[in-house]
Amino acid sequence: MEGINTCATCHATLTDAKLRGPAKDYVTSAHRDERIGCVGCHKGDPRDPTVGAHARALGFIAHPAQSEVAGICGGCHADADFIRHVNARLPVGQYALYSLSLHGRLAAGGDERAPTCATCHGKHDVLPPASPKSPVNRANVHKLCGGCHSDAKRMSPYQIRTDQLSKWEKSVHGLAFKKGNPNAPTCNSCHGAHSATPPDASSVARACGRCHEEELALFEQSPHSKGFRRRGLAECVACHSNHDVAPASSLHVGVTPDAMCTKCHANDEKPMKVADTIAGLLRGARDRSAAARATLARARDAGLVVPGSSFALDQLSTAELKLRAVVHTLDPMRLEAPIASIDRAVAEAEKLVSDVETTRKTERRGYYVALTVAGLLFLSLLLKSLELDRRRRQGTP
Ligand code: HEC
Ligand code: HEC
Ligand code: HEC
Ligand code: HEC
Ligand code: HEC
Ligand code: HEC
Ligand code: HEC
Ligand code: HEC
Ligand code: HEC
Repeated sequence: MEGINTCATCHATLTDAKLRGPAKDYVTSAHRDERIGCVGCHKGDPRDPTVGAHARALGFIAHPAQSEVAGICGGCHADADFIRHVNARLPVGQYALYSLSLHGRLAAGGDERAPTCATCHGKHDVLPPASPKSPVNRANVHKLCGGCHSDAKRMSPYQIRTDQLSKWEKSVHGLAFKKGNPNAPTCNSCHGAHSATPPDASSVARACGRCHEEELALFEQSPHSKGFRRRGLAECVACHSNHDVAPASSLHVGVTPDAMCTKCHANDEKPMKVADTIAGLLRGARDRSAAARATLARARDAGLVVPGSSFALDQLSTAELKLRAVVHTLDPMRLEAPIASIDRAVAEAEKLVSDVETTRKTERRGYYVALTVAGLLFLSLLLKSLELDRRRRQGTP
């Protein structure tokens, strides 16, 4: 069958856009390889130059039904031998993952509201995901998933929320994505593309931890790791939420009513004590750090050049990030090391500024001395010249 595709040749000449369109789109699609052809999906006889090509006896399918599409695309994409012949690097697990997902199970039952392979990738204009024009491209996928998931009418038969897209767009993740941060998660980063399942309570931490490795490791060393599992709480999501993750600075550790710890522990003696201790340590370290930053800023505003100040600020920021991450252990002792780093950076910053100030004072003293000497010299020269002038006028040489 190689090299012969009368389906495409004839369809390219037809006047009805609905019949010609597929042949046109196919030419620039990922499927333009002649081993795929039109028959890859529609079957029929690609060597018959007449409409006899639509051979029902050869299994010709004019309009694959909703429930058939995944079998057609997946039949081929799960065939590792065939796929690897054409593209050795293409993974072959999509059909298996999709079939098990809720999307796949609903579509297999003919539910037109659930996506099939062709809903997400297109039919004749299927492109590699790396193509900016592909609906599954990283830049577009939130519009694809969100298109259905924020459509309240479409989702009305199901007991499911429709706020994921709008929340994600306003979250730290969505805002970082908008700014072009290549590591910011979009819908399929957390859900997968073909499995599209909500991570359950016991696997959320791994989904977040793919990117936040340090926080995951520290969380796993905390009493929360086991405690949350026992109670079916959704790990990271219980504190940070899933779609509307807010900046960490908005979460207060402490015992006040607005502190997050109070929401679960208002009546628990030990956790509230720990919360109070940690809150005190954080407040102290952050106050000292803020004071050091203010000192550096004042020096800069006064026009002082403080060599090494940007290095000191970097060290301060690094230590603060480390401190923040260590909060996940819930162990006040573990806060000591990063707090010591903060205090070292604070002392370093303050020393840099005071050194520069001392130097400037010395320089200034030297300057006044020099100015006085120069002034006296000038005065004596002036007196001398007046004296000479007087003598000249009196006629004495
Ligand atoms: C000689 C020209 C010609 C050839 C060759 C041809 N087709 Fe068609 N095809 C048509 C025409 C005309 C129609 C619309 C009328 C009809 O359904 O017969 C059509 C309709 C279709 C439809 C839509 C059916 C519908 O009911 O809307 C599909 C799908 C299709 N062809 C696929 C193929 C495939 C696959 C091949 C090759 C195996 C092929 N065609 C070969 C001319 C051709
Ligand atoms: C990757 C699979 C795939 C390939 C390859 C493919 N098609 Fe299709 N085609 C589909 C699917 C899926 C539909 C959608 C059926 C529907 O929505 O009713 C379809 C529908 C059509 C229709 C009906 C369009 C309409 O709007 O009613 C025509 C005509 C058609 N294909 C022709 C072709 C021709 C000609 C080729 C080769 C140039 C081709 N197809 C290659 C999957 C494919
Ligand atoms: C006859 C086998 C076959 C069928 C049926 C088929 N594909 Fe493909 N598809 C391939 C092969 C082979 C490639 C690799 C092409 C290449 O890289 O040149 C491919 C490439 C792709 C790609 C691009 C992958 C990449 O990263 O480059 C996507 C997406 C895709 N197919 C989706 C689909 C969808 C959706 C359907 C059903 C509507 C489908 N395929 C039906 C064989 C098939
Ligand atoms: C809900 C939307 C959705 C559905 C349904 C879907 N895909 Fe995908 N697909 C994606 C996204 C998003 C990507 C790209 C990113 C990724 O792989 O995570 C992708 C990537 C692919 C790729 C390229 C993989 C690669 O690594 O280059 C192939 C091939 C593919 N899909 C085939 C299929 C097949 C076959 C089906 C049906 C069995 C299907 N897809 C169903 C969204 C979907
Ligand atoms: C064509 C519309 C459509 C598209 C596109 C779509 N979905 Fe869905 N999705 C649905 C429907 C319908 C359900 C079933 C809702 C239910 O039964 O509660 C669903 C369910 C889900 C669920 C819940 C699954 C479960 O097991 O509870 C998740 C998670 C999900 N989709 C994520 C995604 C992601 C991620 C994408 C994009 C890669 C996506 N969806 C694209 C229609 C869509
Ligand atoms: C940072 C990771 C992350 C991102 C990004 C993300 N989700 Fe989710 N999503 C989750 C988690 C975790 C759950 C499960 C919540 C739980 O178990 O409490 C979930 C649940 C869902 C559900 C099930 C219904 C619900 O709201 O609980 C759907 C549908 C869904 N997400 C769609 C999307 C869509 C669409 C996008 C993109 C706009 C998206 N998600 C982006 C992590 C994410
Ligand atoms: C694909 C990678 C990725 C995944 C998965 C991911 N994140 Fe993020 N996350 C990021 C990036 C990148 C940023 C930084 C955004 C910025 O620069 O402002 C971030 C920022 C954050 C912040 C704010 C940090 C701050 O400095 O205020 C929190 C909290 C957070 N993520 C929690 C989560 C949680 C909870 C999950 C799982 C539900 C998760 N993340 C999943 C990449 C990811
Ligand atoms: C008990 C509630 C709680 C849980 C559970 C939790 N966090 Fe946090 N997380 C916090 C608090 C509180 C902060 C901010 C501490 C501060 O700055 O005062 C934070 C800060 C963060 C930050 C920003 C700090 C940094 O290092 O840049 C990220 C990212 C983060 N958490 C991710 C996660 C991940 C991933 C998980 C799951 C493995 C998780 N968190 C579990 C409460 C929690
Ligand atoms: C989403 C609810 C939730 C939040 C928010 C929360 N915790 Fe917990 N915490 C728990 C659960 C559940 C346990 C395990 C209790 C058990 O198994 O008896 C626990 C256990 C603890 C323990 C261990 C108690 C022991 O007896 O060893 C400490 C300490 C603790 N939490 C401190 C905190 C601090 C500090 C915060 C605020 C940063 C916080 N928790 C926020 C639910 C929460």
